[in-house]
Formats: sequence, C-alpha cells, structure tokens
Amino acid sequence: MEPVMRAALLLSRAKNVVVFTGAGVSAESGLATFRGAGGLWEGHRVEDVATPEAFGRDPLLVWRFYAMRRENAKKAQPNPAHKAIAKLEELFPSLVVVTQNVDGLHQRAGSTRVLELHGSLWRLFCAKCGRTREDHQVPLPQLPPRCGVCGGLERPGVVWFGEPLPEAVLAEAERVSSQADAMLVVGTSGVVWPAAGLVEVAAAWGAAVIEVNPEPSALAYLATVQIPAKAGEALPALTARLLEVQGARA
Ligand code: OAD
Repeated sequence: MEPVMRAALLLSRAKNVVVFTGAGVSAESGLATFRGAGGLWEGHRVEDVATPEAFGRDPLLVWRFYAMRRENAKKAQPNPAHKAIAKLEELFPSLVVVTQNVDGLHQRAGSTRVLELHGSLWRLFCAKCGRTREDHQVPLPQLPPRCGVCGGLERPGVVWFGEPLPEAVLAEAERVSSQADAMLVVGTSGVVWPAAGLVEVAAAWGAAVIEVNPEPSALAYLATVQIPAKAGEALPALTARLLEVQGARA
C-alpha cells in the first residue's frame, strides 16, 4: 500500500494528534533550512550568531543575522503544508503543533495551538531586566534594539545553542507527545535535542509516527510510515486521503 494511504488509515484511527515540525516545512515558503547545501549554518558560524557568548561579544552582528531572518520570514507566505496542518484542526480538535521553527508561519496559516520550542523571531526580551515583548516591525527602528523600560540591550526571543528550552513549553510538548495516538514528523533532520526526543516520547507511549521528508531523518528508525516527499505536496495529499477514508466509513 502506498505510504500516503497507510498514513491516512493510521490517522483515521487517531484522536490525539501532534504535528512536530522543523525548517523543512517552511522550505517551500522560500526560507532556508539549517543543514545541507545553502543552509543557514553553511553561510553562518553558529558560534558567531546563535550563542549567548556571541551576543555578549557583538550584539550588532547577531542582530543583523536575526534582522535578515525577520525580513525573510515577514516576506514569506504560509505554503500548502502549513495550510494543510491548520486544516487538520477541523478533523482533530485537540491537535497541537510542536515546532522548532521561529518564523510564525504555522500561526499565520491558522493553526491555533502552536508550541514554539525554540522561541520566536517576533518576540524580543531585555537581556538586562528580562522584559518580554512582541514586535513585528521590519526593519526594527534601531539595531540593536533597546528596552523601553531600563535601556538595556534587547535580544531575539529565540533559544540559542547552550541555552535550555523554555521549561513550560517543553513540559507541555512532552505531555501532548506522550498522549498522542499519532505524530506527524515534518521537515526536520531530527538531530537537535531535546526537541528530537519528543518523537521518542510519542513512539514509546504507542503513537504511530508518520515522517514526511524527502530524505529519511535521524528519527526515521521510529517511523511507522515514511512519506518520502516534500511537505507542500505530501500534506495536502494526506488530508485529501484522510477525508476520503472518513467519507467511505460514514
Ligand atoms: P534542518 O535544516 O536540520 O533539517 C531540515 C530538514 O527538512 C531536512 O531533514 C530536509 O531533508 C527536510 N526538508 C527539506 N525540504 C523539505 C520539504 N520541502 N518538505 C519536507 N522536508 C524538507 O532543520 P531542523 O530539523 O528544523 O535550532 O533543525 C533543528 C534545529 O536546528 C533548528 O530549530 C535550529 C537549528 O540549529 C536552533 O536554532 C536552536
């Protein structure tokens, strides 16, 4: 049986569904992934732009990298994969998106429950007093931005290498993963932990794992079904199949 059909059958038996996403889900919106040819980590050294030490050394360099990412993300539009994931909420009212992405495209596509494991490009917080705020202006009026309350340097509200994930977000992601009947794993290489561990949690508690990725990821060993295709093609096809299966049973 073809993998999209197998995945649709697995989903048709599920109630609690988690969609775990990585940069690959936004690739067809024109946003670069991290690893591989043309990836963000090929053009930039992580230690220069995505660590607290880099920010301490050269906040302007770090901000230029994030200003570029904010500009690209603002220009990008949700693609058919983001839209299909948002539409799945109609079939699975408890569906949760757990994303490693910071671009906000799931929310713009209409997903209402999104756990952002690595933070958001659209959140800033003061490195001195900790005040957090949302800011969607592109470009920001001042680089690096400064806190309106204490005058300290503001930093991007994203998780950097060497930093822990937001505790409450990770705990909630672990909870929903452990209760999932099915987990869709879309567009992630699965090499960054603790995020990748959520797929192990879901599998260990009995979820069917459906991987959507043109290349098998490091988590492929956990997959019940692998769909070797682009997310923007596979996810609309999967939703259509699922509706057919449900229609045939009604
Ligand atoms: P990666 O760049 O590591 O992996 C992207 C994955 O997407 C690869 O497995 C590709 O095969 C796949 N892919 C590419 N195009 C695709 C498409 N059209 N449809 C489906 N899949 C596609 O990105 P992540 O796994 O998201 O962390 O990386 C995880 C974390 O590493 C990021 O959140 C970031 C990074 O360092 C932080 O910055 C903390």
